[in-house]
Amino acid sequence: MEYITLNNGVKMPIVGTGTNTYGKVNNDYNGALTNEIPELESALELGYRSIDAAIMYRNEHLVGRVLAESTVPREELFITTKVPASEEYVSSKDATRAAIDNSLKNFQTDYLDLFLIHFPIENKEHLKNTWEVFEEYYEAGKLKAIGVSNFEKHHLDELKEFAKVKPAVNQIQINLKQPNKELLAICKEEGITPVAWGPMKAEDHQKEVLNEIGKAYNKTGAQVLLRYQIERGVVVIPKSHNPDNQRANLDLFDFELTTADVEKIENL
Ligand SMILES: NC(=O)c1ccc[n+]([C@@H]2O[C@H](COP(=O)([O-])OP(=O)(O)OC[C@H]3O[C@@H](n4cnc5c(N)ncnc54)[C@H](OP(=O)(O)O)[C@@H]3O)[C@@H](O)[C@H]2O)c1
Repeated sequence: MEYITLNNGVKMPIVGTGTNTYGKVNNDYNGALTNEIPELESALELGYRSIDAAIMYRNEHLVGRVLAESTVPREELFITTKVPASEEYVSSKDATRAAIDNSLKNFQTDYLDLFLIHFPIENKEHLKNTWEVFEEYYEAGKLKAIGVSNFEKHHLDELKEFAKVKPAVNQIQINLKQPNKELLAICKEEGITPVAWGPMKAEDHQKEVLNEIGKAYNKTGAQVLLRYQIERGVVVIPKSHNPDNQRANLDLFDFELTTADVEKIENL
Protein backbone atom coordinates (compact mmCIF):
# COMPACT_ATOMS: atom_id res chain seq x y z
CA MET A 1 0.00 0.00 0.00
CA GLU A 2 1.11 3.54 -0.68
CA TYR A 3 0.18 6.47 1.52
CA ILE A 4 -0.47 10.14 0.91
CA THR A 5 0.52 12.63 3.59
CA LEU A 6 -2.32 15.01 4.48
CA ASN A 7 -1.64 18.69 5.24
CA ASN A 8 -1.42 17.95 8.99
CA GLY A 9 1.13 15.14 8.57
CA VAL A 10 -1.38 12.27 8.95
CA LYS A 11 -0.79 9.45 6.45
CA MET A 12 -3.80 8.13 4.54
CA PRO A 13 -3.76 4.96 2.39
CA ILE A 14 -4.10 6.02 -1.24
CA VAL A 15 -6.62 3.22 -1.87
CA GLY A 16 -9.54 2.45 0.41
CA THR A 17 -12.90 0.80 0.15
CA GLY A 18 -16.30 2.47 -0.01
CA THR A 19 -19.12 1.02 2.09
CA ASN A 20 -22.28 2.81 1.00
CA THR A 21 -24.15 -0.34 -0.12
CA TYR A 22 -22.50 -2.82 2.27
CA GLY A 23 -24.75 -4.83 4.57
CA LYS A 24 -27.88 -3.91 2.62
CA VAL A 25 -30.49 -6.07 0.89
CA ASN A 26 -29.70 -6.43 -2.84
CA ASN A 27 -26.65 -4.18 -2.35
CA ASP A 28 -29.12 -1.35 -2.72
CA TYR A 29 -28.16 1.99 -1.12
CA ASN A 30 -31.72 2.39 0.21
CA GLY A 31 -32.17 -1.32 1.05
CA ALA A 32 -32.88 -2.64 4.52
CA LEU A 33 -29.84 -3.64 6.59
CA THR A 34 -28.88 -7.32 6.52
CA ASN A 35 -26.85 -7.25 9.74
CA GLU A 36 -23.73 -8.73 8.16
CA ILE A 37 -21.04 -7.50 5.78
CA PRO A 38 -19.08 -10.33 4.15
CA GLU A 39 -17.68 -7.79 1.62
CA LEU A 40 -15.97 -5.86 4.37
CA GLU A 41 -14.55 -9.03 5.87
CA SER A 42 -13.14 -9.97 2.48
CA ALA A 43 -11.79 -6.43 1.97
CA LEU A 44 -9.90 -6.65 5.27
CA GLU A 45 -8.56 -10.08 4.38
CA LEU A 46 -7.35 -8.78 1.03
CA GLY A 47 -5.47 -5.96 2.73
CA TYR A 48 -7.77 -2.92 2.67
CA ARG A 49 -7.08 -0.75 5.67
CA SER A 50 -8.87 2.49 4.73
CA ILE A 51 -12.63 2.32 5.14
CA ASP A 52 -14.93 5.08 3.91
CA ALA A 53 -18.14 5.21 5.94
CA ALA A 54 -20.87 7.79 6.62
CA ILE A 55 -23.69 8.33 9.06
CA MET A 56 -26.03 8.65 6.05
CA TYR A 57 -25.23 5.07 4.97
CA ARG A 58 -27.06 3.80 8.12
CA ASN A 59 -24.55 0.94 8.47
CA GLU A 60 -21.83 2.60 10.60
CA HIS A 61 -22.57 0.26 13.53
CA LEU A 62 -22.28 -2.82 11.26
CA VAL A 63 -19.08 -1.58 9.63
CA GLY A 64 -17.77 -0.72 13.10
CA ARG A 65 -18.61 -4.15 14.45
CA VAL A 66 -16.77 -5.93 11.61
CA LEU A 67 -13.72 -3.72 12.15
CA ALA A 68 -13.77 -4.19 15.91
CA GLU A 69 -14.14 -7.97 15.61
CA SER A 70 -11.39 -8.31 12.98
CA THR A 71 -7.84 -9.25 13.88
CA VAL A 72 -6.52 -6.07 12.26
CA PRO A 73 -5.08 -3.81 14.96
CA ARG A 74 -6.86 -0.45 15.30
CA GLU A 75 -3.65 1.48 14.54
CA GLU A 76 -3.47 -0.17 11.09
CA LEU A 77 -6.97 1.01 10.18
CA PHE A 78 -7.83 4.38 8.67
CA ILE A 79 -11.50 5.04 9.41
CA THR A 80 -13.29 7.89 7.64
CA THR A 81 -16.86 8.84 8.40
CA LYS A 82 -19.07 11.84 7.66
CA VAL A 83 -21.67 13.96 9.37
CA PRO A 84 -24.77 14.72 7.25
CA ALA A 85 -25.45 18.40 6.53
CA SER A 86 -29.04 18.17 7.79
CA GLU A 87 -30.48 20.17 10.71
CA GLU A 88 -30.60 17.13 12.97
CA TYR A 89 -26.79 17.01 12.98
CA VAL A 90 -25.65 20.59 12.48
CA SER A 91 -28.26 22.93 13.96
CA SER A 92 -26.36 23.19 17.26
CA LYS A 93 -22.90 22.42 18.57
CA ASP A 94 -24.36 19.81 20.90
CA ALA A 95 -26.06 18.05 17.98
CA THR A 96 -22.72 17.79 16.17
CA ARG A 97 -20.95 16.63 19.35
CA ALA A 98 -23.62 13.94 19.80
CA ALA A 99 -23.10 12.80 16.17
CA ILE A 100 -19.33 12.47 16.60
CA ASP A 101 -19.71 10.71 19.96
CA ASN A 102 -22.17 8.28 18.38
CA SER A 103 -19.80 7.54 15.49
CA LEU A 104 -17.01 6.85 17.98
CA LYS A 105 -19.38 4.44 19.73
CA ASN A 106 -20.37 2.77 16.44
CA PHE A 107 -16.73 2.15 15.58
CA GLN A 108 -15.97 1.07 19.16
CA THR A 109 -12.94 3.34 19.18
CA ASP A 110 -11.69 6.43 20.96
CA TYR A 111 -10.55 8.18 17.76
CA LEU A 112 -11.50 8.42 14.10
CA ASP A 113 -8.85 8.99 11.44
CA LEU A 114 -10.87 11.38 9.31
CA PHE A 115 -14.22 13.07 9.87
CA LEU A 116 -15.93 14.96 7.06
CA ILE A 117 -18.90 17.25 6.51
CA HIS A 118 -20.76 15.11 3.97
CA PHE A 119 -22.34 17.95 1.96
CA PRO A 120 -22.03 21.74 2.07
CA ILE A 121 -23.93 23.36 4.96
CA GLU A 122 -25.60 26.37 3.41
CA ASN A 123 -26.42 28.12 6.73
CA LYS A 124 -23.20 30.00 7.58
CA GLU A 125 -23.72 29.92 11.33
CA HIS A 126 -24.33 26.17 11.27
CA LEU A 127 -21.24 25.66 9.13
CA LYS A 128 -19.12 27.69 11.57
CA ASN A 129 -20.51 25.86 14.61
CA THR A 130 -19.98 22.47 12.99
CA TRP A 131 -16.40 23.24 12.01
CA GLU A 132 -15.65 24.60 15.50
CA VAL A 133 -16.86 21.31 16.99
CA PHE A 134 -14.69 19.41 14.48
CA GLU A 135 -11.74 21.56 15.62
CA GLU A 136 -12.57 20.91 19.27
CA TYR A 137 -12.48 17.12 18.73
CA TYR A 138 -9.39 17.46 16.54
CA GLU A 139 -7.55 19.36 19.27
CA ALA A 140 -8.62 16.68 21.77
CA GLY A 141 -7.11 13.97 19.53
CA LYS A 142 -10.45 12.25 18.95
CA LEU A 143 -10.40 13.15 15.24
CA LYS A 144 -6.93 12.76 13.69
CA ALA A 145 -7.90 14.76 10.59
CA ILE A 146 -10.96 16.78 9.60
CA GLY A 147 -12.28 17.68 6.17
CA VAL A 148 -15.20 18.20 3.85
CA SER A 149 -17.01 16.49 1.01
CA ASN A 150 -18.76 17.82 -2.08
CA PHE A 151 -17.50 21.34 -1.33
CA GLU A 152 -17.18 23.66 -4.36
CA LYS A 153 -14.69 26.54 -4.44
CA HIS A 154 -17.12 29.02 -2.85
CA HIS A 155 -17.83 26.60 0.01
CA LEU A 156 -14.09 26.22 0.63
CA ASP A 157 -13.71 30.01 0.58
CA GLU A 158 -16.50 30.40 3.11
CA LEU A 159 -14.87 27.90 5.45
CA LYS A 160 -11.52 29.69 5.12
CA GLU A 161 -13.04 32.84 6.63
CA PHE A 162 -13.09 31.30 10.11
CA ALA A 163 -11.33 27.91 10.04
CA LYS A 164 -8.38 27.64 12.42
CA VAL A 165 -7.70 24.13 11.09
CA LYS A 166 -7.62 23.83 7.32
CA PRO A 167 -9.63 20.92 5.86
CA ALA A 168 -7.26 18.03 5.17
CA VAL A 169 -9.45 16.47 2.50
CA ASN A 170 -12.24 17.29 0.06
CA GLN A 171 -14.02 14.10 -0.99
CA ILE A 172 -15.63 14.81 -4.36
CA GLN A 173 -16.82 12.95 -7.40
CA ILE A 174 -13.85 12.38 -9.70
CA ASN A 175 -14.09 9.96 -12.60
CA LEU A 176 -14.02 10.00 -16.38
CA LYS A 177 -17.68 11.07 -16.59
CA GLN A 178 -17.13 13.89 -14.07
CA PRO A 179 -13.43 14.80 -14.17
CA ASN A 180 -14.03 17.86 -11.94
CA LYS A 181 -10.74 19.30 -13.21
CA GLU A 182 -11.08 22.88 -11.90
CA LEU A 183 -12.03 21.85 -8.37
CA LEU A 184 -9.27 19.27 -8.33
CA ALA A 185 -6.72 21.95 -9.25
CA ILE A 186 -8.09 24.26 -6.54
CA CYS A 187 -7.81 21.53 -3.90
CA LYS A 188 -4.21 20.90 -4.91
CA GLU A 189 -3.40 24.63 -4.80
CA GLU A 190 -4.91 24.88 -1.32
CA GLY A 191 -3.07 21.82 -0.02
CA ILE A 192 -6.31 19.88 0.40
CA THR A 193 -6.06 16.21 -0.60
CA PRO A 194 -8.69 15.22 -3.16
CA VAL A 195 -10.45 11.92 -2.49
CA ALA A 196 -12.41 10.53 -5.44
CA TRP A 197 -15.82 9.06 -4.77
CA GLY A 198 -17.46 7.09 -7.57
CA PRO A 199 -14.01 6.52 -9.12
CA MET A 200 -15.09 3.61 -11.35
CA LYS A 201 -17.69 5.50 -13.38
CA ALA A 202 -16.85 5.69 -17.11
CA GLU A 203 -18.73 5.61 -20.43
CA ASP A 204 -18.55 2.39 -22.46
CA HIS A 205 -16.32 3.94 -25.13
CA GLN A 206 -13.96 5.15 -22.39
CA LYS A 207 -13.87 1.67 -20.84
CA GLU A 208 -12.89 0.21 -24.22
CA VAL A 209 -9.87 2.53 -24.45
CA LEU A 210 -8.87 1.80 -20.83
CA ASN A 211 -9.05 -1.95 -21.48
CA GLU A 212 -6.93 -1.50 -24.59
CA ILE A 213 -4.32 0.51 -22.62
CA GLY A 214 -4.34 -2.15 -19.88
CA LYS A 215 -3.24 -4.94 -22.25
CA ALA A 216 0.35 -3.67 -22.35
CA TYR A 217 0.56 -3.83 -18.55
CA ASN A 218 -1.47 -7.03 -18.15
CA LYS A 219 -4.05 -5.02 -16.20
CA THR A 220 -7.76 -4.37 -16.64
CA GLY A 221 -9.24 -1.06 -17.70
CA ALA A 222 -10.52 -0.57 -14.14
CA GLN A 223 -6.98 -0.93 -12.80
CA VAL A 224 -5.67 1.54 -15.38
CA LEU A 225 -8.32 4.04 -14.31
CA LEU A 226 -7.45 3.73 -10.61
CA ARG A 227 -3.72 3.83 -11.33
CA TYR A 228 -4.20 7.04 -13.33
CA GLN A 229 -5.87 8.71 -10.33
CA ILE A 230 -3.32 7.64 -7.73
CA GLU A 231 -0.39 8.60 -9.97
CA ARG A 232 -1.68 12.19 -9.89
CA GLY A 233 -2.19 12.22 -6.13
CA VAL A 234 -5.92 11.48 -6.00
CA VAL A 235 -6.97 9.06 -3.24
CA VAL A 236 -9.50 6.48 -4.48
CA ILE A 237 -12.16 4.61 -2.51
CA PRO A 238 -13.64 2.13 -5.02
CA LYS A 239 -16.44 -0.05 -3.69
CA SER A 240 -17.03 -3.62 -4.82
CA HIS A 241 -19.18 -6.52 -3.69
CA ASN A 242 -17.02 -8.92 -5.69
CA PRO A 243 -13.79 -10.22 -4.06
CA ASP A 244 -12.06 -10.53 -7.47
CA ASN A 245 -12.70 -6.88 -8.18
CA GLN A 246 -11.71 -5.94 -4.63
CA ARG A 247 -8.41 -7.76 -5.15
CA ALA A 248 -7.84 -6.12 -8.55
CA ASN A 249 -8.51 -2.66 -7.10
CA LEU A 250 -5.63 -3.09 -4.67
CA ASP A 251 -3.27 -4.55 -7.24
CA LEU A 252 -2.09 -1.19 -8.55
CA PHE A 253 1.44 -0.81 -7.31
CA ASP A 254 3.52 -2.85 -9.76
CA PHE A 255 3.12 -0.74 -12.89
CA GLU A 256 3.43 2.86 -14.02
CA LEU A 257 1.53 4.45 -16.91
CA THR A 258 3.57 5.95 -19.73
CA THR A 259 3.17 9.65 -20.49
CA ALA A 260 1.51 8.71 -23.77
CA ASP A 261 -1.08 6.56 -21.96
CA VAL A 262 -1.76 9.29 -19.41
CA GLU A 263 -2.37 11.70 -22.31
CA LYS A 264 -4.76 9.20 -23.91
CA ILE A 265 -6.74 8.96 -20.68
CA GLU A 266 -6.81 12.74 -20.27
CA ASN A 267 -8.23 13.10 -23.76
CA LEU A 268 -11.06 10.61 -23.18
N1 LIG B 1 -19.04 11.79 -0.39
C1 LIG B 1 -20.07 11.45 -1.13
O1 LIG B 1 -21.01 12.21 -1.35
C2 LIG B 1 -20.08 10.08 -1.76
C3 LIG B 1 -20.98 9.80 -2.79
C4 LIG B 1 -20.95 8.53 -3.36
C5 LIG B 1 -20.04 7.58 -2.89
N2 LIG B 1 -19.20 7.88 -1.86
C6 LIG B 1 -18.23 6.88 -1.34
O2 LIG B 1 -17.42 6.44 -2.43
C7 LIG B 1 -17.47 5.02 -2.52
C8 LIG B 1 -17.29 4.58 -3.97
O3 LIG B 1 -18.27 5.13 -4.80
P1 LIG B 1 -19.45 4.27 -5.43
O4 LIG B 1 -19.69 3.11 -4.56
O5 LIG B 1 -20.58 5.19 -5.69
O6 LIG B 1 -18.94 3.88 -6.86
P2 LIG B 1 -17.64 3.18 -7.50
O7 LIG B 1 -16.72 2.68 -6.46
O8 LIG B 1 -17.11 4.12 -8.51
O9 LIG B 1 -18.29 2.00 -8.33
C9 LIG B 1 -18.84 0.88 -7.76
C10 LIG B 1 -19.20 -0.05 -8.91
O10 LIG B 1 -18.03 -0.38 -9.65
C11 LIG B 1 -17.94 -1.79 -9.80
N3 LIG B 1 -16.53 -2.17 -9.70
C12 LIG B 1 -15.69 -2.00 -8.66
N4 LIG B 1 -14.46 -2.47 -8.95
C13 LIG B 1 -14.51 -2.96 -10.20
C14 LIG B 1 -13.56 -3.59 -11.06
N5 LIG B 1 -12.29 -3.79 -10.67
N6 LIG B 1 -13.96 -3.98 -12.30
C15 LIG B 1 -15.24 -3.77 -12.69
N7 LIG B 1 -16.18 -3.18 -11.94
C16 LIG B 1 -15.83 -2.78 -10.70
C17 LIG B 1 -18.76 -2.38 -8.66
O11 LIG B 1 -19.35 -3.60 -9.06
P3 LIG B 1 -19.01 -4.98 -8.28
O12 LIG B 1 -19.61 -4.85 -6.92
O13 LIG B 1 -19.69 -5.99 -9.12
O14 LIG B 1 -17.52 -5.12 -8.28
C18 LIG B 1 -19.83 -1.31 -8.43
O15 LIG B 1 -20.93 -1.57 -9.27
C19 LIG B 1 -18.83 4.67 -1.90
O16 LIG B 1 -18.95 3.33 -1.54
C20 LIG B 1 -18.87 5.64 -0.75
O17 LIG B 1 -18.13 5.14 0.35
C21 LIG B 1 -19.20 9.11 -1.30
